[in-house]
Amino acid sequence: MCGIVGYIGKKRDNVETLIDGLKRLEYRGYDSAGIAVIENGGIRSIKSTGKVAELQQKILADWNHHNKPDTSIGIAHTRWATHGAPTHDNAHPHIDDTGRFALVHNGIIENYAALKKQLQLKGHVFKSETDSEVLVHLIAELFDGDLMQAVAASLKQLEGTFGITVISLDSPDSLVVARRGSPIVIGVGDEESIVASDVSALIAYTKRVIYLDDDDIALVSAEGIEIRNIDNVPVSREIAKVDWSSDAAEKGGYEHFMLKEMYEQPEAISNATRGRLDRKMATGMMNGLGFSPKNLAEINRIVIAACGTSMHAGMVGEYYFEDLASIPTEIEQAAEFRYRNPIIEPNSLLLAISQSGETADTLAAVREAINKGATVASICNVVGSTIARETGRGVYLHAGPEIGVASTKAFTCQVTVLLMIALKFGRNRRLATEEGVRLIDEIENIPALVTEVLNDAAKIEEIARKYVYAEDMFFIGRGYLYPAALEGALKIKEISYIHAEGYHAAELKHGPIALLEEKVPVVALANDIPGKDKIIGNMQECKARKSPVIATATVGDDSIREHADDIIWLPECSKYVAPIISVVALQFFSYYFAKLRGCSIDQPRNLAKSVTVE
Ligand code: AGP
Ligand code: GLU
Repeated sequence: MCGIVGYIGKKRDNVETLIDGLKRLEYRGYDSAGIAVIENGGIRSIKSTGKVAELQQKILADWNHHNKPDTSIGIAHTRWATHGAPTHDNAHPHIDDTGRFALVHNGIIENYAALKKQLQLKGHVFKSETDSEVLVHLIAELFDGDLMQAVAASLKQLEGTFGITVISLDSPDSLVVARRGSPIVIGVGDEESIVASDVSALIAYTKRVIYLDDDDIALVSAEGIEIRNIDNVPVSREIAKVDWSSDAAEKGGYEHFMLKEMYEQPEAISNATRGRLDRKMATGMMNGLGFSPKNLAEINRIVIAACGTSMHAGMVGEYYFEDLASIPTEIEQAAEFRYRNPIIEPNSLLLAISQSGETADTLAAVREAINKGATVASICNVVGSTIARETGRGVYLHAGPEIGVASTKAFTCQVTVLLMIALKFGRNRRLATEEGVRLIDEIENIPALVTEVLNDAAKIEEIARKYVYAEDMFFIGRGYLYPAALEGALKIKEISYIHAEGYHAAELKHGPIALLEEKVPVVALANDIPGKDKIIGNMQECKARKSPVIATATVGDDSIREHADDIIWLPECSKYVAPIISVVALQFFSYYFAKLRGCSIDQPRNLAKSVTVE
């Protein structure tokens, strides 16, 4: 998920080029970094936790003038931990036991545990907790004189996603790169080649690039590139010309991190679900929760603690746990949980949700619950974060780094993970196999539905343009779309600084309706799921006060047309999935609304990405 750079050639300082490439990938967010080069028949490597600047300091100190490697081939990596905390040993590159192969990997190897066991039985000694290390041992195990073939044979055994770059003492004049799911691009230079996970790292050196397809394996030397597919059949890929400015490249071609992360959602959700659905048992497989079926059956109450967007995800979770697993569930603003002295019993589960895993209030709620004897678990995105560590059990989102202050992909992944956990709890109780299978189908279809919403971004932009004058806005929803309304209003507030409020549609008449008038648009979530008929009534109440109504509605549901001034059409889906795709639409609405008003989207005023104070 994070950054890869590889360089081969004699035209420039190899180490400096690799570090420069890593710096250009820093925008992706990461937690540790490392580099490995081939010199005089050996592999030399330096790794460091923290920033690339720290790695650079270490290199300056250890590889000083007298000790500087004389090298023309090397690989480097910024890691965003998915398996194992962000430590020195877990940082990439990983090197096999013989010291002949080094590898950097982006992505997730799902079947790493089984492969690791087999390799350990053959005597391989592992130095990290990562999934990635398995691959370098496997390549060493299968190597029979041809690095490309050893890589191909290894990749055939892998389940999951990868973008990799490998170097070997046995072929010191070429890098081997491959991809499945995680991008790899090769920069074609003049007597040099530079490979990377993202063109941003290489456009300073060349604008001529080859994008690899899934299951392509390339042997990259300074003079040329040979590409084969996983079955060893040569394939040809065109050389494309990149015409990005280096500024655009910083954000992978997107104007803002927020936009980039919104577009990453189908992939992020696929990563969050990958390997976690068990069709045979019609259930979710979240091993990190560490519950035996008996432990699971003993949980008789769930309290979800979170803040902001994560709290809105938790609200959807409350509906899931009650609907699918019949477990009484409450969602608590995390600070409130701590200070109102909550009643926690031994069979209560406190589920903390936090993208960053560092939010002070959520952490305090976790500590309070632990102190009261509750079982605690977490849903975090950042591996090895404080909340993830202190809860000890939980589920990582694997959504990739979220840099935009306004949380987007974390929300959709949190809700998806909550749905999978509720499926697991439900199947442990009364949820029938057929219902479990139906839910699995729905979960697997979420990325495709989200993609449909992304494809309609231009239409959403046009609607946002129409209302760009608004200084006040209301968002209303019911049932599963009530938390989505709250999240829509929060997104508008955060990045466009106008007054926006999310309300339960029924609550509007209990006060806020006094504020409605023709300059105050109301966004009504009127998708075709239970509650729609009632919300149509609420939309009429708004129109009667002259408020323009913007609705989200299900494609084909023409009954909405007469009740709304503008409609964001969304694909058909069940009530479980509706909050996810509706929030994606509202993210776009907020993004364009803020952009058209000239607001600073990635650095909204007064906000911090991670709120580590109470
Ligand atoms: C979301 O857009 C906000 N920046 C904010 O509400 C955020 O969700 C909240 O601070 C919680 O953060 P966490 O998920 O990292 O705990
Ligand atoms: N899954 C790998 C790890 O945890 C790679 C993570 C990444 O893409 O940076 O080390």
